[in-house]
Amino acid sequence: MNQIHIDPSRKLGGISRNLFGGFIEHLGRCIYGGIYEPDSPLADENGLRTDVLQALERLQIPLVRYPGGNFVSGYRWMDGIGPKEDRPTRIDMAWHATDTNQFGTDEFITFCRRLNTEPYMVVNCGDGDMREARDWVEYCNGTQDTALVKLRRQNGYEAPHRVKYWGVGNEVDGPWQIGYKTPDEYARAYLEFAKVMKWVDPSIKLIASAASHWQGGTVVERTQQLLEQAGKLIDYLSIHWYVGNPTNDFAAYMAQSELIDERLFAYEGLIRALCLQEGLAPLIPIAVDEWNVWYRTHGQADHQNLEEVYNLEDALMIGIQLNSMIRHAYSVKMANLAQLVNAIAPIFTNKQGLVLQTIFYPFELYSRTCGTTALDVFWKGETFSGGTHTGVRVLDVSATLDDASNRLSVYVVNRSQTESMETTIKLDSACFGGGVQAYVVNGPDIKAENTFDNPNKVGTTPAQLTADQQTSFTYTFEPHSVTALVFDLK
Ligand code: AHR
Repeated sequence: MNQIHIDPSRKLGGISRNLFGGFIEHLGRCIYGGIYEPDSPLADENGLRTDVLQALERLQIPLVRYPGGNFVSGYRWMDGIGPKEDRPTRIDMAWHATDTNQFGTDEFITFCRRLNTEPYMVVNCGDGDMREARDWVEYCNGTQDTALVKLRRQNGYEAPHRVKYWGVGNEVDGPWQIGYKTPDEYARAYLEFAKVMKWVDPSIKLIASAASHWQGGTVVERTQQLLEQAGKLIDYLSIHWYVGNPTNDFAAYMAQSELIDERLFAYEGLIRALCLQEGLAPLIPIAVDEWNVWYRTHGQADHQNLEEVYNLEDALMIGIQLNSMIRHAYSVKMANLAQLVNAIAPIFTNKQGLVLQTIFYPFELYSRTCGTTALDVFWKGETFSGGTHTGVRVLDVSATLDDASNRLSVYVVNRSQTESMETTIKLDSACFGGGVQAYVVNGPDIKAENTFDNPNKVGTTPAQLTADQQTSFTYTFEPHSVTALVFDLK
């Protein structure tokens, strides 16, 4: 029998809403043909696809990262402002494409305001310079009568865009990046970019690009150089990961939870050690500002516009990644699902409409039910072996408490392909209040996909239940499912 023990007074830390951030890049049909399609009958007066906006609204995304990704390392932001007919088409070397610049800074801000989400801009620290970066902050946030502020006003935006979050470069540790930098080169560049960007607007929060190249990379050295040279100017340290199932081995895929947890534990330890060494307090938080499942279209010669078609096992992997970030919510204060539309995305469009991919459902579920505090959960039960891991618990679990409503959310991924998992949830130092809302993301089998022909194979099923014993509740988790149980507490 599986058991989950929760003591709501054992709090791990506050959960930042920014854990449910998103990311859009000038890449394939993410923006053009996804978010922005002015010729479409589905577009609003700003050229934004209304069906896409409606789907995005369901995800309740608090912030969106833009414009890349690899794209940003060759981007000139000034190409994407002003009259559309004057905007140049440029070669995009990151994705071997061209970009018309019809969607740029102001269109992105309009998109964010329409979606009620915060913009998070990344500046070009690839082939771009600090002058461009600081000018972009001034164009967006400036209030004085400077030439750049006048330009923004002339472009129709009287009020400042008030962009709070700014990333300095993207994946500068990767040899695939335009303008790859050694640890020392980036730490030095970061310091100088950050100085002038914060001088333009001291209220902005800066994200340093720390680790994306985990194998053969220089994670420790990069972070050390960054903290030693520029620690006081770093508000978040960004790490990226993508997971996948390239060998079609379900057990090995599901066991990647261990790798994710391990990376977070290791990176937290590294930050802790370096902050102690440098006398930096409080600890610099982590931004996982790109994460997702991505392997089918990874490394393909033509990239296939990264139009990954997801299945149910990928949806389980979304739950597993969110569980891990909730368990590490005391250090992970931002995360951005990469990406939102068409390119490795939960929303997939064609000219006539869209389909919600399997991974849409767990993300929506967690985003809409997650509480404000992460809880320390103890659980035990059946185990499995996968890849190099043994003794991995079949259930993957996290829990949150919503302090205002006194609501407990328990998230469980059942990684058994065939077995239901009867489980007792025991509460310490609290009592169930009676009402339980269950939401189950599932489908017929682990390879089930949602397509235009068959859009509802995987989805969320809600059920209203009752916890009739004060401190114990037994529930059977369906095979290959992601479940949220939301309890009212007394
Ligand atoms: O999200 C797709 C790509 O993955 C991004 O452009 C890059 O930052 C990462 O390698």
